Amino acid sequence: MTDARPGEQLHLGAFFHPTGHHVASWLDESAQIDAGTNFRHYAELAQTAERAKFDLMFLADALATRDGRPEALRRWPQYMAYFEPLTLLSAIAALTSRIGLVATATTSYNEPYNVARKFASLDLISGGRAGWNVVTSSNQSEAFNFGREAHIEHDARYDRAEEFTDVVRGLWKSWDADAFVRDRSTGIYHDPEKLHELNHVGPHFRVKGPLNVARSPQGEPVLFQAGSSEVGRELAARTAEAVFTPQTYMEPARAFYADLKGRMKKFGRERWQLKVMPGLNPIVGRTLAEAEEKHAHLQSLIHPDVGLELLGYSLGKFDLRPYDIDGPLPDEVERHGTNAGQTAFRQILGWARDEHLTIRQLYQRFAGARGQRTVIGTASMIADDMQAWFDSYAVDGFLIQPSTLPGGLNDFVELVIPELRHRGLFRTEYEGTTLRANMGLPIG
Ligand SMILES: Cc1cc2nc3c(=O)[nH]c(=O)nc-3n(C[C@H](O)[C@H](O)[C@H](O)COP(=O)(O)O)c2cc1C
Repeated sequence: MTDARPGEQLHLGAFFHPTGHHVASWLDESAQIDAGTNFRHYAELAQTAERAKFDLMFLADALATRDGRPEALRRWPQYMAYFEPLTLLSAIAALTSRIGLVATATTSYNEPYNVARKFASLDLISGGRAGWNVVTSSNQSEAFNFGREAHIEHDARYDRAEEFTDVVRGLWKSWDADAFVRDRSTGIYHDPEKLHELNHVGPHFRVKGPLNVARSPQGEPVLFQAGSSEVGRELAARTAEAVFTPQTYMEPARAFYADLKGRMKKFGRERWQLKVMPGLNPIVGRTLAEAEEKHAHLQSLIHPDVGLELLGYSLGKFDLRPYDIDGPLPDEVERHGTNAGQTAFRQILGWARDEHLTIRQLYQRFAGARGQRTVIGTASMIADDMQAWFDSYAVDGFLIQPSTLPGGLNDFVELVIPELRHRGLFRTEYEGTTLRANMGLPIG
């Protein structure tokens, strides 16, 4: 089953981890070394991505620093000290005019009213460019900051997430677009008929509403979702308008795409109302040799302490230090399996089983892009790859995850974007002023 996408082009997001996606990116001389708390750095990234006409920029988030062994964490700045994303995006909104501004907020450690209000405010401040990435939390240590010893169980988190997103969406519909008459002659500011209380009562939340923020030019923020498990897919098919997902091979990606879109009908939705945007780490060179050299250099910068910590964490906090780093993943990992519902856990076990990778090879593969796909080559090789995935109905677009910043973004913008344009695969001008208009999504 294919989708009719006449004339449609790729949708591109730019996902910014402060110094870049590669776990050792901060050690590369081109990286902005204090990036996490350097506003000018983010402003320039946003402006570069907007000049290139990316649909959106995306900031991930966690409500905790990383938890782990100090000897590894001291070598690994990601998620240790960085801006709260909605605050950062509000400032970036003032310096940009077209690019979508998307951030994560977890449904596990927030209340729907707060989340609805913050994203609705960003949506108004940016003139209709906000998007909310719904996650159920991957960082286990968030629990410690919210009075718990551990996350609630995986599927139960999704249960809460489903009701949470319903409430947020309900609150976003509090005001009709023409609710504010603001008529000095009659002294009437808003029409009460056009203000709707939510009066939600459910197993997790009781929320009366209405929201104290008006509708934005795009109606409501765009809903993104980033879980690929069975329950994650159901939530996405029911509510998400775009999905971020780690997909490393084309056939499983095509199956994921078809599966996700196939689930939408039962929720009364059309397939085009959800865009599938897997992560892609492009490492671009003017020649293949140059690209390979860049990649090899980054991989050589990964300290084993960091590699073992990163891999062990995704395997349910399994301590890999006692094992031979150049030997196989021990069988105990599978039995340990506390993280069994998580996509990364299954992915790493799959690589170990199918490709017989050693612990070092596994962490190198996983650490580079944290389980997402890295493509190394010239601009035309990378464009070939992206085109093949798009033409095969494996994707509607990509979430571009530069390995280093600003260098990796600049390379992509200077080299790959023109190649995509040349092939008619990517826009030369924004279609509209809102994120919905640019992503081809209906007004919310
Ligand atoms: C591109 C991408 C971005 C993500 N961003 C976040 C994030 O900012 N915060 C978070 O807690 N989890 C994030 N996640 C993790 C997912 O929300 C989710 O926890 C993970 O995919 C496991 O869920 P699953 O078992 O349903 O696949 C992200 C995942 C992907 C693929």
